[in-house]
Amino acid sequence: MKLQKLFEAAIEIGIDADPRGRKMIEKKLKKTAEQAKKLEGREKEYFDQERTWNPYSDSRIINGSGDEEIHTVAVGVDIETPEMLLIDRLRENGMKIDAAFIHHPEGRALADLEKVMPMQVDIMMLTGVPVNHAEALIRPRMDRIWRSIHADNLFRTERAAELLKIPAFCCHTPTDNLVWGFMEKNICKKEYDDLGEILNAISDIPEYKHYAKKGNPPIIVNGSRGGRPGKIFATEFTGGTNGPEDFMELQSRAGVGTILSMHVPEKMVEEAKKHNVNMIQCSHMASDSLGINLMLDKLGKLEKKLNVVEISGFIRVKR
Ligand SMILES: [Fe+2]
Ligand SMILES: [Fe+2]
Repeated sequence: MKLQKLFEAAIEIGIDADPRGRKMIEKKLKKTAEQAKKLEGREKEYFDQERTWNPYSDSRIINGSGDEEIHTVAVGVDIETPEMLLIDRLRENGMKIDAAFIHHPEGRALADLEKVMPMQVDIMMLTGVPVNHAEALIRPRMDRIWRSIHADNLFRTERAAELLKIPAFCCHTPTDNLVWGFMEKNICKKEYDDLGEILNAISDIPEYKHYAKKGNPPIIVNGSRGGRPGKIFATEFTGGTNGPEDFMELQSRAGVGTILSMHVPEKMVEEAKKHNVNMIQCSHMASDSLGINLMLDKLGKLEKKLNVVEISGFIRVKR
């Protein structure tokens, strides 16, 4: 399958798994495309055409024309210059690798990361938080993320890929949507006597089991093994990056008892303690691997000869 086709398929799969639902996303894309047609001069010159069909600003092809034939992808959670050199060495040693599948965004996908964050408002709404409260808090957090990433050296990986002639694409929120849906359905919707039972249920999932055996199990960062979970939500699994700390109070008031998260900043732990919300930090790499695996399972149905080389935190588990 051609790179562009493979990437477009990944975006479509991401939309189907999106907490906002396909209808709402298509409406937004249509609006953007209509607005884009009216742009002139400087605004037209700087407009990112990708935004008219791909709702995920943190996912895009960062190197390649799209016309490259892809059978084997090197898949990693973080692929930066060292991993590009690794791919180059592997190719030198005779391994066939047609492209890099990068999870955490690089290049423009990183520069535009904060633009996927408004979907967090919809994730909050699913817990019962009123839309006006969530919307009021997301914008300042988006501005902070934008400013902090703005200072980064954004295009190092992209340049390494160009020089080494490795087609590469970032696929971030589409796969995070898949793992979010998986956790909501397979973990959050079930009944548990206590948090310990949730840890056990998470650890039974192959990716988490693999990481637990290597010393990176899911852990309780607020609450105790014997504590009762209340209502469980995986609100920290998709939406670009962690939400504002103030989301904790909103969720507590909305009746959320336990939050599952890929990673929890210290400030968030403090807020969880203040508002009596249990928090489980599931292994970050296991969580991202699970999302990528669900994506690869779906892509594998479209491209029967899709081979995977696991690098940088990713482990392949087929379902
Ligand atoms: Fe992720
Ligand atoms: Fe991640």
